[in-house]
Amino acid sequence: MTPLLEVRGIDKSFGPVQVLHDVAFSAHAGEVTALVGDNGAGKSTLVKCVGGIYPIDSGEIVFDGRPVQVHGPRDAGELGIEIVYQDLALCDNLDIVQNMFLGRERRRGLVLDEASMEELAEQTLSGLSVRTVKSIRQQVSSLSGGQRQTVAIAKAVLWNSKVVILDEPTAALGVAQTAQVLELVRRLADKGLAVVLISHNMNDVFAVSDQIAALYLGRMAAQVRTADVTHAQVVELITSGRSGDLGIVP
Ligand SMILES: Nc1ncnc2c1ncn2[C@@H]1O[C@H](COP(=O)(O)OP(=O)(O)OP(=O)(O)O)[C@@H](O)[C@H]1O
Ligand SMILES: [Mg+2]
Repeated sequence: MTPLLEVRGIDKSFGPVQVLHDVAFSAHAGEVTALVGDNGAGKSTLVKCVGGIYPIDSGEIVFDGRPVQVHGPRDAGELGIEIVYQDLALCDNLDIVQNMFLGRERRRGLVLDEASMEELAEQTLSGLSVRTVKSIRQQVSSLSGGQRQTVAIAKAVLWNSKVVILDEPTAALGVAQTAQVLELVRRLADKGLAVVLISHNMNDVFAVSDQIAALYLGRMAAQVRTADVTHAQVVELITSGRSGDLGIVP
């Protein structure tokens, strides 16, 4: 089966520092692909390259079997690639609807089409079985961490997305909220999206992923099916870049 999103041979440097070396990675529709690696391994940089935030130095991005150019977030958005960034990017002083449509507001003539935005926001949240949010006109500052993450994910899903990339969505969450967000992650994949989940938490990764890709010092150590590896093997890949037959050959 052709991956929905694939990158090959990605190199990326910031000035003299090369952060990504010849990285290959793929994500399939209907699956959760976990992207793991230690702090500074290059996970966020990789997804920012895919999302058009950073230009790549070399390599290719292939979408649904076809090489594509992603020169900015708009290109990524047009392909159906949405990223929920580590630093969330929701505006505290705006309500849920305003956040979900920020920069892409619907208008009727000169005025904002509030009714249709509300309806679509409501539909999206309920389509994701999100029931903990009391009112979509609630300011985001009044939401819990888990609810914020949910809104950020719903915002990403609103735009006919095909690939949703979540950078550490559960990092700041408690047990119950983490479970809620992971359930949502699984539901997105079950709806047919290709979901990429960046996480440091092995329990989360094993609970929800179909495949695991481990970055080690900017190199892809291995991408494997979750069912084929143990926690210990993945931890080894993260900390040393190899585990038995898997990983980078020294
Ligand atoms: N804009 C930038 N300019 C220069 N160096 C950068 C920039 N962004 C990231 N780096 C460097 O690239 C490396 C990879 O960073 P990145 O944020 O991709 O890691 P990460 O795997 O997401 O880590 P974490 O798990 O801590 O979020 C780090 O050494 C970081 O200092
Ligand atoms: Mg990061």
